[in-house]
Amino acid sequence: MDFKDQLKSSVDIVNVIGEYVRLKKSGTQRYMGLCPFHNEKTPSFTVHVARQFYKCFSCGEGGDVFSFVQKIEGISFYEALQTLAERHGIPMPKRSLAADEETKVRDAVFQMHEIALEHFRAGLRAPAGEAARDYLARRGVAQPAVDRFALGYSDRSGRALLRLLEQRGFSPAQIEQSGLVRKREDGSFYDYFRNRLMFPIHGESGKPIGFGGRALTPDDNPKYLNSPETPIYIKSNVLYNLHRAKEPIRKQDRVILVEGYMDALGVSSAGFEFVVASCGTSLTEAQIKALKRHSVNIAVNFDPDAPGASAAERSINLLLQEGMAVRMVELDGGLDPDEYCKQRGAEAYGERVRNAKGYFYWLADRARARHDVHTTEGIVAVLKFLMPAVERISDRLERMAVANDLAEYIGVDRGTVLDSFRKAAADRKEARLERPKEIIRADERGLLNVLLSDAPGREALLRDLSKIEILNRLSTRRLFEALMAAHAGGAPVTFDAVSARLEAQDQNLLAEVALSEDAEAHEITEEYGRQCLESLLRSGERNRRTDIKTRIREAERGGDMAEAVRLARELEAMERGPGRNK
Ligand code: CTP
Ligand code: MN
Repeated sequence: MDFKDQLKSSVDIVNVIGEYVRLKKSGTQRYMGLCPFHNEKTPSFTVHVARQFYKCFSCGEGGDVFSFVQKIEGISFYEALQTLAERHGIPMPKRSLAADEETKVRDAVFQMHEIALEHFRAGLRAPAGEAARDYLARRGVAQPAVDRFALGYSDRSGRALLRLLEQRGFSPAQIEQSGLVRKREDGSFYDYFRNRLMFPIHGESGKPIGFGGRALTPDDNPKYLNSPETPIYIKSNVLYNLHRAKEPIRKQDRVILVEGYMDALGVSSAGFEFVVASCGTSLTEAQIKALKRHSVNIAVNFDPDAPGASAAERSINLLLQEGMAVRMVELDGGLDPDEYCKQRGAEAYGERVRNAKGYFYWLADRARARHDVHTTEGIVAVLKFLMPAVERISDRLERMAVANDLAEYIGVDRGTVLDSFRKAAADRKEARLERPKEIIRADERGLLNVLLSDAPGREALLRDLSKIEILNRLSTRRLFEALMAAHAGGAPVTFDAVSARLEAQDQNLLAEVALSEDAEAHEITEEYGRQCLESLLRSGERNRRTDIKTRIREAERGGDMAEAVRLARELEAMERGPGRNK
């Protein structure tokens, strides 16, 4: 067994993936969750315990534990091995796998960040760190928070970290790539961070990948100096504090989003550990996707000032587009989240979070403040302002509910609001290509599983298949057709034989059926297959009755009474059941 196999057999894929995706047990061998690789509202991402693989039945992404870690962390195969080995305390054999050049650089940059983090922490404890310690004390940051957030101090020398990195044997080329130093005209280096309070920024797996350095005095500009992008730090992918918050986010099934390092620190220290910060940049799709893997419920708590509110406004649409449920926390007194927790206390803050408004009311408030809803122009302007957010509500019923609420809220009649919704919908290009999730009925699945098995008697079932009239209404009709075709061809009807006759989409559907719970829950026997078949026949009957009822109503509405009566008779005969006085 090589190292890869050894590692694979000692990690549990469910645990590993479970750190990134909320998984729910679903069957003895399966866990399911929302796919982290595409945008979806109903879970089609499956992890199979016994087979140690994952698969999304919607986007098709799948593989083993290594490909998952590679894909989700955006790292190479070698790094995935390394990450998993480290996390499970399994030593990597030195010469097991040769790393490529890029991986080696990243590896070195990771190591330099570990070193820098400890170096800055020591700096905060050292005599030279006194001013930084005083600053923290003034802002009410106590020792437990200092430790938990691994805060540090970069001294004034401009070369302490550089020296240390050189001593540890990193080459100038490696050091330059770390983003921890800057290059002078003459080619020599100096420390990037000088005389600053240091906030380490971690990747989701918990490794430090960058720093934010806060000035200790108002005259030192900029207020925050942040690491540049490096091979390990891609800003648009990272949220501050996510690696610490992800467990709490999952437990609470919600996340608070704030703007600043200090806000995340203050809110978390007040007991709301499910908080992350966007760190002053506008929120990106990648960041939202990372959050969504842990919870879809987000409470946005940006600064109460104008830039904070505009940033929040911009974020809402993107959050909605990614399918998040958005609430807005509002704090009074012009306080930011950190100040609010400190001045008003954790209880008061918790109250604000619990009472967070739906984003829609928040937006409507902003619109109302800007426009006079007593005038037609005002109403038009308000509706126009709100329309982008409305359009991003993908659920039709929810959109209707919002229309109602909104009408009441801005004091116009429902018709006006619905009209403008409709106009917007008509203007909107049909961008939504997403295939609706196909629903497979339990009896469909059961029957397919029996037919794909080697249960005795399935021959007879196969022959009876043609009786099922509703076959062509089922999402699995092409699977049944392929089964019948394979059977007619005289070849053994196996999973592979059927799969080979299907297009990729339907192959996924077939896999979904074969992996489904009832494939485990029920004994796969002819009798079970028979039951499923009967159930399909019965619902075919029900469908026909519903059809007739609809046609009767249409005939009545159209004034064709003769047709209505004829159909009613047909329905009556059907309800009496076959064989009785026809
Ligand atoms: N920020 C930045 N560069 C700046 C100012 C701000 O990168 N010059 C980012 C930081 O990530 C900061 C966030 O924007 O945390 C929010 O800014 P601000 O509210 O000014 O900072 P706070 O974290 O609240 O810090 P403090 O309370 O110390 O002012
Ligand atoms: Mn602040």
